[in-house]
Amino acid sequence: MAHATPSEITPQQVYQQRRDVLRQMAAGAAGVTLSAWTGQEALAQSASVVKRPGKLAALAGARSTVSGAQVADKLTPYEDVSSYNNFYEFGTDKSDPAQAAHTLKPRPWAISIEGEVGKPQKLGLEDLLKLAPMEERIYRLRCVEGWSMVIPWVGYSLSSIIKRAEPNSRAKYVEFVSLADPKQMPGVRSSVLDWPYVEGLRIDEAMHPLTLMAFGLYGEVLPNQNGAPLRLVVPWKYGFKSAKSIVKIRLVEKQPKSSWEKSAASEYGFYSNVNPKVDHPRWSQSSERRIGDGGLFTPRKPTLMFNGYEAQVGQLYAGMDLKKNY
Ligand code: MTE
Repeated sequence: MAHATPSEITPQQVYQQRRDVLRQMAAGAAGVTLSAWTGQEALAQSASVVKRPGKLAALAGARSTVSGAQVADKLTPYEDVSSYNNFYEFGTDKSDPAQAAHTLKPRPWAISIEGEVGKPQKLGLEDLLKLAPMEERIYRLRCVEGWSMVIPWVGYSLSSIIKRAEPNSRAKYVEFVSLADPKQMPGVRSSVLDWPYVEGLRIDEAMHPLTLMAFGLYGEVLPNQNGAPLRLVVPWKYGFKSAKSIVKIRLVEKQPKSSWEKSAASEYGFYSNVNPKVDHPRWSQSSERRIGDGGLFTPRKPTLMFNGYEAQVGQLYAGMDLKKNY
């Protein structure tokens, strides 16, 4: 699979300046509301002119203190991050989500946390935004199809949310369920995947500090096409583990079956750790194309074990056969 990408560059300096301004705003912004979302849906989007959902003071987070959360790689331009997407609820082409996701209504929103927990609960978006300090984390995200991006996400560790529900001793896995509303998401009328989009993690993976619940990127509200209003980012796994527009988190005893596993178990294993030594049946995983780094003729980069996060997460898989548990 090879695609050309729009390469309007957002220079790093422009982003840096904007981030400084956002930080200053945050310093005096207690109680600021989510007005940034107002009118968001009204405007159309296109792949070449990406409408930005806007700033939100709550997201102007400090740099992360989590070990290994910041990579020094060049950032992928905002225009590419928000116009080259996989979000099958809005179509299967990379340009579909940016064009179609304006029908998604990211407010009001709530998630429920249920299953093997002492305190099942429903949490509204406003409460979620205040639940833990926002952090900015620059993560690599590598798609199983062989492309990758480097994105400054804003959010906090998923563990902050899960702990609130007090998982019990039977909670061995976590299942994530995305919204599947045909009124907002035209793609769910097709049978390309079994809806709703479901993904899963082992409980220790879900509780790992690197596992991020993201509410924004580039210091701004998440664009709909990137999974507004909240999505997972699991930086050492292939991108499909990072479920978008989540409405339910279920703590369960048995390993959940993800939508991708159901569609092709031989291609999409439960673990899906980025592993250059284990090829996908259709794509080599030994190298990747960094989106925004020039065109199709730019040399591919070697893919790193666990996407470069081996020092942080390798221990989670000690003693496991990573070819069998792909
Ligand atoms: N989540 C939902 N609900 N639906 C999807 O189709 N696609 C996944 C993942 N999360 C997907 C999803 C895949 S295949 C990838 S590579 C990443 O989202 C892409 O995230 P991005 O578009 O923000 O780069």
